Amino acid sequence: MTLDEILAEATTAMNVVTTIPDLEQAKARFLGKTGSLTEQLKAMAKLPPEEKKAAGAAINVVKTQVEVLINGAKARILDAELQAKLAAESIDVTLPGRRIGSGGLHPVTRTQERIEALFASMGFSVADGPEIEDDYFNFQALNTPENHPARSMQDTFYIEGSKNLLRTQTSPVQIRHMQSHKPPIRIICPGRVYRCDHDATHSPMFHQVEGLWVEEGISLADLKGTLTQFLNAFFERDDMQIRFRPSYFPFVEPGVEVDMEWGKVKDSKGGKIKWLEIGGAGVVHPQVLRNGGIDPEKYSGFAFGMGLDRLAMLKYGVNDLRLFFENDLKFLSQFR
Ligand code: PHE
Repeated sequence: MTLDEILAEATTAMNVVTTIPDLEQAKARFLGKTGSLTEQLKAMAKLPPEEKKAAGAAINVVKTQVEVLINGAKARILDAELQAKLAAESIDVTLPGRRIGSGGLHPVTRTQERIEALFASMGFSVADGPEIEDDYFNFQALNTPENHPARSMQDTFYIEGSKNLLRTQTSPVQIRHMQSHKPPIRIICPGRVYRCDHDATHSPMFHQVEGLWVEEGISLADLKGTLTQFLNAFFERDDMQIRFRPSYFPFVEPGVEVDMEWGKVKDSKGGKIKWLEIGGAGVVHPQVLRNGGIDPEKYSGFAFGMGLDRLAMLKYGVNDLRLFFENDLKFLSQFR
């Protein structure tokens, strides 16, 4: 092969290589141990001395040209590889960013915090009690001895082989608190309670908020005033009506069911108030005060127990209690 042929072949070869291994192979064909240019250099040895210099110079010129071709091809291949890599990794900076969702409080928790704040503004502090309760605190100390018919309305989950049960009401906190505090007592106790119920308005676990005010001269009138003021603040109104209906709870006397006004229903006279039950209440029974270590001759008080979930449903316009406990984020994220 002549030097011109070698150069022409190298030019073609370097134009078509597309990968570095191909390039190395092609390079070896010219500059490797048995490459065409290497062979030329070897052949020089057989030339007469006076021709060597010119031949060597000519070979070197071509060798340099081939090296330039190789370096050019190498740069081209590396650049193409870089471009391909960049294209594969490209990001669309015009896409909106992916946000990290922010959490929020559960609507029942929000309602509880709101209730605590409103009662705090009326001088009530927050008391707490265990959810796994003793039969004594949940029933007996609240005038509900074993086999008392009122127990059947609050059937719950008993813990086998012990006197413990999941509390059916927040009322046991009344006894616990009275036993460890002296009047004046003004507390609320929001928390979970358990009963064997399950439908759109009942869940086996739900929330109540208990209230207890024991002091000299406390009466049903104070109960009515306190609840009215609370409901006005809770529903951001100033004209809330409540009514008491006589009812029976073993630990109050008299006992009432508390209804609050919730809109109007049409009737022949153009509309009458629609009432919604929100809880039970009454004047604390003297024996319950005694069980709490308080002298009923000196002190009196009222107690109430409201459905916290019911208040949350009314506040947020939710019509199925179960939604609160399924924890579907599509539902919950509306309250963030
Ligand atoms: N604990 C009662 C219930 O769960 C409600 C209540 C509380 C009634 C306090 C009177 C006084 O049904």
